[in-house]
Amino acid sequence: NEIKIFSPATVANVACGFDVLGFCLDSVGDDMVIRKTDKKGIHITKIEGFDLPYETELNVAGVSALAMYEATQPDCGFEIEIYKNIKPGSGIGSSAASAVGSVFGMNELLGRPYNKTQLTQFAIKGEALASKCEHADNLAPALFGGFTLVKSISPLEILEIPTPDNLYATIIHPQIEIKTSESRAILPKKIILSDAITQWSNLGSLIHALHTNNYDLISKSLHDVIVEPHRSKLIPHYNDVKTVAIKAGALGCGISGSGPSIFSLSKGVETAQNIKNAIEEVYSKTGIEFDMHISEIN
Ligand code: HSE
Repeated sequence: NEIKIFSPATVANVACGFDVLGFCLDSVGDDMVIRKTDKKGIHITKIEGFDLPYETELNVAGVSALAMYEATQPDCGFEIEIYKNIKPGSGIGSSAASAVGSVFGMNELLGRPYNKTQLTQFAIKGEALASKCEHADNLAPALFGGFTLVKSISPLEILEIPTPDNLYATIIHPQIEIKTSESRAILPKKIILSDAITQWSNLGSLIHALHTNNYDLISKSLHDVIVEPHRSKLIPHYNDVKTVAIKAGALGCGISGSGPSIFSLSKGVETAQNIKNAIEEVYSKTGIEFDMHISEIN
């Protein structure tokens, strides 16, 4: 009658795939306990780690749970305990982990009436509470693992993209908070055609590279000419991080979701570790607190 789950952090956008591409980080995530109760409704009974609202309608995990609950009308209720490790506003899918965790757990306790795409559909409601916009590029990799591409939001269609062996992500999280809603608000509503051409050529070639284990092509595709020029201004020493990461062997780097976290991709754990060391050396001189981690993508 109760399930304990791990809800992973994720990297959205992956440079050229704004709002559609993402991957799962299985080394960082939230723990949650979902419990079936006789008392009807959705009740958040415990939150540890960060100060988040207990009111179901104001809590991301609560809102996605309610969307599923109302659609299902089960003969029971659910309690949710959240042990939050992913800092809200860190850019590695904190709200998505909460939104996905509650519906995943409820689905298990109900005997899996829904598939992962349907669960993503419920979770979008929770995500929208946090970012003021319906997008699924963090939700989908949290549920499916590996790389995912959100082909369309309405109707929701998610593609699982294969991950080459030995692909690692190094993440630096400078301890400043950037709200997704705010970093979306600074983006232009219109873009230049030549930039759009560059971006879709990079996204197409990145997807091809992931399918064909082509590390050179991954490296050549990891560029963002549309979003990064605007958002990188919000992240202190962004270009320095990129420069040292590439020098240390990164295939490429980008802003993780809406920032401030920055991801680097690399082939092999040793390179990932070298990148971590190089970034640590540079960032520890800035006076800004940060943490870092490495995750294999699979
Ligand atoms: N694609 C979204 C964005 C992810 O970049 O705004 C943030 O959660």
